[in-house]
Amino acid sequence: MSTAVELLAAIEGVGRDAKRGGYSRHGFDRVELELREWFVGEAGRRGLAVEGDRNGNLWAWWGEPGVGAVVTGSHLDSVPGGGAFDGPLGVVSALSAVDMLRERGFAPAKPLALVVFAEEEGGRFGVPCLGSRLLSGAVDPEVARGLRDPDGVTLAEAVAGAGFDPARLGRDDDALAAIGTFVELHVEQGRGLIDLGAPVAVASSILAHGRWRFRFTGEGNHAGATLLGDRHDPMVPAAEMVLATRIAASEVDDARATVGRLVPNPGGTNVIPSSVDVWLDARGPDDASTRRVLGRIQELANDAVEREGCALTVTEESYGDTVHFDAGLRDRIAAALGGIPTLPTGAGHDAGVLAAQVPTAMLFVRNPTGVSHAPEEYAEPEDCESGVTALAAVLGQLAG
Ligand code: GLV
Ligand code: MN
Ligand code: MN
Repeated sequence: MSTAVELLAAIEGVGRDAKRGGYSRHGFDRVELELREWFVGEAGRRGLAVEGDRNGNLWAWWGEPGVGAVVTGSHLDSVPGGGAFDGPLGVVSALSAVDMLRERGFAPAKPLALVVFAEEEGGRFGVPCLGSRLLSGAVDPEVARGLRDPDGVTLAEAVAGAGFDPARLGRDDDALAAIGTFVELHVEQGRGLIDLGAPVAVASSILAHGRWRFRFTGEGNHAGATLLGDRHDPMVPAAEMVLATRIAASEVDDARATVGRLVPNPGGTNVIPSSVDVWLDARGPDDASTRRVLGRIQELANDAVEREGCALTVTEESYGDTVHFDAGLRDRIAAALGGIPTLPTGAGHDAGVLAAQVPTAMLFVRNPTGVSHAPEEYAEPEDCESGVTALAAVLGQLAG
C-alpha cells in the first residue's frame, strides 16, 4: 500500500517554480501533462482502467464503468506559485484509499472511480473549475474554446495538444449519469481545523464566488514629458480600485475581495500605460452580498475613472452561487466518521460545481499553517493518514 505522503513525494519535483517559489502547474501545460501521466501510471499499477472524458478530465475505474458510481478525486493543477497539497492531496488520498480498501479485502458493489479534474484553479485560462464546469454545462463550450492563456494559446488548442477533441467540449450527460455520489478530499485552506483541534472535517458550504476583469483605459504617454494635468493615466483609477476592494469587502459581513493580478499595458517604467487590466476575486455568503461588494467597487472605480478622464469596462469571467452540500450525505458521513466536525469554506472546488448536479460531499484535512495558495500550505503526515482512513471508510460505506 502507498501512503498519501509517499505518493506526494513521488511528484514533489514536478512543476516547481524557481521564480515564484512553490509550484506552477496549469491545465494542459507540460507540467500538468506530466502529472496526468504519473496518475495514469499509478492507476494502471492498481489495475484501474483510465479514460479521458469529453472535457479533458481523467477517470480511473475500479471495476466496470457504470452509472451511479461512487466517485472521488480532485485536481493536479495549481495556482501560480502554489502549495503541494491543494488538489494533489485529494488525488493521492484517492489512490491510497483504494489501496487501503483492497488490503482489507473490500470489493465494491457499485462502480467506483477516481477522477482528476482539469484546470481547477483557472490559473491558465482564467475560469476556475473549468473541467467540472464544462462537464456539468456550467460554462458555454463555445466561450470556453476561445479562452486564451497569457501567451495567446486558446483552450481549444491546449486540449487538442493534450489529445482531446475540442469540438466535444461541453455538458456530458453520460459522465454526469456515471456519478452517483462525488466525494472530494481537500487540504483545508484556512484555520478552521486548527481552531477545532481536529484532523478531519466534512464540508457544509462554500461562499458565492466570482471573478471580474476591470479594464481601465486612458492615454499612453511619456513619463517625463507629460504634465500631470495633461494625463489620463489608467493606473491611477486602477490603484484606487484596489483600495476600493478592501473598503467594499469590509462593509459586507463575511465578504472577501482580492486583487491578485494587475497587468499594465505596455508595462514600462517610463511609460504612462494606455490600459491596465485588474482582476477582482470577490466572495460572499450569498449572491446578494457578493453582488453588493462588486457594485460598491464599481461605483468607487467609476468615480476614480471620471476624475482621471479614463474609461472602464467590467467583464464577468466566472461566477458561482453559494453551495450548500447535501445535508443528508454530510450528516451520514460525519456520523460514520465518529461525529467529526462540519466546516464551511471560502475556497472554491470542483465538488462545489458538481453539487448542483449530484449528491456531493467534501472532507477537509487540517492545514497547520492555515495558509494556502502559497508554498507554506501543509498537512502533517498523520493528518494525511487520518484523511485517507476517513475517505476509505466513506467510499467503503457508499460503494459497499
Ligand atoms: C480555489 O481554490 C479558489 O477558491 O479560488
Ligand atoms: Mn486552490
Ligand atoms: Mn483545490
